[in-house]
Amino acid sequence: MGARLATGHLLFKWFFFCLILIIIFMLYAPYKNIEIEPTMRSKTEVVSAIPTPNLANSSPKIEVPKHFVHTSQCMIPYINPFSAEALKIYTPRKFIPCSNESELVSALYDVNRQRYVLHINEPVAKKLLNSSEREFNCFYREIQHGEKAETYDMLKPSKYFSQDYVVPLHVEGLMLQCETAEIPSVKLQKDAYIFIQYRPNMNTTKPSIKTHPRKPSVIMYGIDTLSRINLRRTMPLVYKHLQGPGWYEMQGYNKVGDNSFPNIFAILSGYSPEKAKEHVCDTDKSGCLDEIPMIWKYFSNASYLTAYAEDESPSNTFSYLKPGFTKKPTDYYFRPFLRALECEADNYNCPGCRMTYCYGRRLANSYIYDYGRQFMQRYVEERPIWGMFWTNHFSHDDYFMPSAMQHKVLGDLINFEKDGSMEHTIMIFFADHGVRYGSLLSLAEGYLEERLPMMFIYLPPWFRQQYPQFTEALALNQHRLSSNFDLHNTLKHIIEIGGTPDGPALPRSYDCPTCQSLFYPIAENRTCSEAGIAEHWCTCHPYRNIDQLHWTNRIAPRVIDRMNEYFVHKNLSHLCSNLTLNYIHRTEIKMSVDVSWEDDLPELEIAVYRTKFKVIQNSADFEATVVFNNKTEAVDVNVENISRTNSYKDDSTCISDKIAKLYCICFSDIKA
Ligand SMILES: *[C@@H]1O[C@H](CO)[C@@H](O)[C@H](O)[C@H]1NC(C)=O
Ligand SMILES: *[C@@H]1O[C@H](CO)[C@@H](O)[C@H](O)[C@H]1NC(C)=O
Ligand SMILES: *[C@@H]1O[C@H](CO)[C@@H](O)[C@H](O)[C@H]1NC(C)=O
Ligand SMILES: *[C@@H]1O[C@H](CO)[C@@H](O)[C@H](O)[C@H]1NC(C)=O
Ligand SMILES: *[C@@H]1O[C@H](CO)[C@@H](O)[C@H](O)[C@H]1NC(C)=O
Ligand SMILES: *[C@@H]1O[C@H](CO)[C@@H](O)[C@H](O)[C@H]1NC(C)=O
Ligand SMILES: *[C@@H]1O[C@H](CO)[C@@H](O)[C@H](O)[C@H]1NC(C)=O
Ligand SMILES: *[C@@H]1O[C@H](CO)[C@@H](O)[C@H](O)[C@H]1NC(C)=O
Repeated sequence: MGARLATGHLLFKWFFFCLILIIIFMLYAPYKNIEIEPTMRSKTEVVSAIPTPNLANSSPKIEVPKHFVHTSQCMIPYINPFSAEALKIYTPRKFIPCSNESELVSALYDVNRQRYVLHINEPVAKKLLNSSEREFNCFYREIQHGEKAETYDMLKPSKYFSQDYVVPLHVEGLMLQCETAEIPSVKLQKDAYIFIQYRPNMNTTKPSIKTHPRKPSVIMYGIDTLSRINLRRTMPLVYKHLQGPGWYEMQGYNKVGDNSFPNIFAILSGYSPEKAKEHVCDTDKSGCLDEIPMIWKYFSNASYLTAYAEDESPSNTFSYLKPGFTKKPTDYYFRPFLRALECEADNYNCPGCRMTYCYGRRLANSYIYDYGRQFMQRYVEERPIWGMFWTNHFSHDDYFMPSAMQHKVLGDLINFEKDGSMEHTIMIFFADHGVRYGSLLSLAEGYLEERLPMMFIYLPPWFRQQYPQFTEALALNQHRLSSNFDLHNTLKHIIEIGGTPDGPALPRSYDCPTCQSLFYPIAENRTCSEAGIAEHWCTCHPYRNIDQLHWTNRIAPRVIDRMNEYFVHKNLSHLCSNLTLNYIHRTEIKMSVDVSWEDDLPELEIAVYRTKFKVIQNSADFEATVVFNNKTEAVDVNVENISRTNSYKDDSTCISDKIAKLYCICFSDIKA
């Protein structure tokens, strides 16, 4: 029954030698028999292929740009990621591997048969057994999609498999274990694999990539919480790779919402959650996300195959404080497998990490990106595909952890190239936002750090050749102001490029009628509001953090005085409590165009400030943009322009004035 290891036998050794040769041949032969979990292998290749950058030596050669964007209406300064202040808090993280053991069972893809094969690595078995005499058995349990879109069924019963077992086509994921044949058995190794099984395109009327006009595939490779500044700081090798031919960096890409959901939602749907609630449905309600006209529905209608994958299920874009999907949203949908990995594998959180770092023997993100890699390997040469592959786990909580992951990510990008997938694919390498809390935000440039996620777009050679005008526009737009809504329109544009020219135009971003495809030149004089970016998130006239300066504490109390006078003026004093300062969250000064970011702040008598503070009464939070005179302490502010940044629902039940409700804390509603 077990795979017995005969030893000392010459014939066996010879056979074994041949087998190794065959495997090597299969791995590197031109017909591409590909290993599924290539990350460890490619990591070592990458490490040896690319010398560690010597930043001290290389920086003088590179001319440091002064601006990300420098237009008549928008000035986004370039930030040196290695400034002295940043380096004071930056400590690169060390990569922690999930396992030091070699894999006992590899999943290989046999390109000729178009089937996955489970290959038992005998030398690894010998090592794990401590002996060549003992027998062992391997079993797997299939992971199946559950009835509900977001979960999996119980694992199927254990099934024995032997050397080079051909995985049945219906198996899309499995957990496996090998153990000694004795009783009681000793576990040798557990592992898990998730597959993109090839399904032939039965419908011959559906276009292959050979149809005209050719449809480009689109793959979105996303990393949570990574600004273009922090990418340059923590992943310089990845950044260098993204300077290669065909890559374009949208250096004026500015986020449109606070956290992941509104930013990703804008890209995928063209809506803000608020406008979707008004015009489609409330994304907080179960079933709504199924109704939203997500971009993958348009791709699917244009006969693209679709896929979606994320790690760390509690933080998933459509599940964190959201109800998720009730129907499977895309042709390939990872979340049920993710739930199985989370519940059934031996998982590991790195020290101090809240999110799961390893599912069993592998990095959480490697499952996601391998899923994307397989998706491309299976289909991209044959038919157009769209997929989004997103990781949360390493970058969401520790903004320096990307430094530990740069070889992993670079390895992915290099593998996609080696596979030939980039020949067919428009790739979007992106983040949702930058760091939203912690010490990076308290740097002078924290304002920009938070608002400028990385955004890179790759165009394959044939596309650049066939559409030089789109390519030129994209190149130009690298230094123009752009937003999530433009990216949404670009995706729609891509669908149309490959569609029938006289077909109806797809609806563009609902929330930003003035937004456009990035394949057309963006106006030089574009403003934030034209790009669908609210004033609060706009970096065109950036603010500089001045928390650490004590004198700024004089501003918020003067703003509160104005608010109390407002209650008197509105005859609300008998209903609304006067407010008193609890503490100041943050104060920023608006930068003028001619001031260098690195310089000390010039002495200004009058300047524009933004201050965010909390009052004692019911812990209400406010944010005010004001003109403050540093000498006289006079504050110029229209109280009705002050933002209330937490919920006021239970604080102002005594009045009905819609605007005053934002500021009034009723005596009757005061919490003790
Ligand atoms: C791998 O080896 C390193 C160095 O010996 C050790 O610190 C680490 O704990 C090991 N990791 C695992 C998962 O066993
Ligand atoms: C092999 O030896 C190691 C270390 O002594 C032990 O932990 C492990 O359980 C042994 N493996 C088997 C299959 O007995
Ligand atoms: C997809 O096509 C179907 C059938 O033509 C249509 O009813 C549906 O509205 C389309 N969906 C989108 C998102 O375009
Ligand atoms: C931008 O320039 C165009 C002409 O090039 C002009 O029509 C438009 O009004 C300008 N917009 C702004 C906001 O200045
Ligand atoms: C509340 O503030 C107003 C305006 O500053 C002031 O006139 C009034 O005396 C204050 N009321 C109390 C009870 O402090
Ligand atoms: C406030 O009350 C006074 C006297 O009761 C009245 O004259 C005035 O018009 C009121 N102001 C507002 C804004 O309602
Ligand atoms: C405001 O005044 C303080 C001293 O009162 C000074 O230290 C600070 O630099 C001034 N700020 C500006 C922006 O002029
Ligand atoms: C208040 O907001 C309105 C609309 O956003 C704006 O037009 C006005 O200039 C603002 N007033 C002040 C004093 O900031």
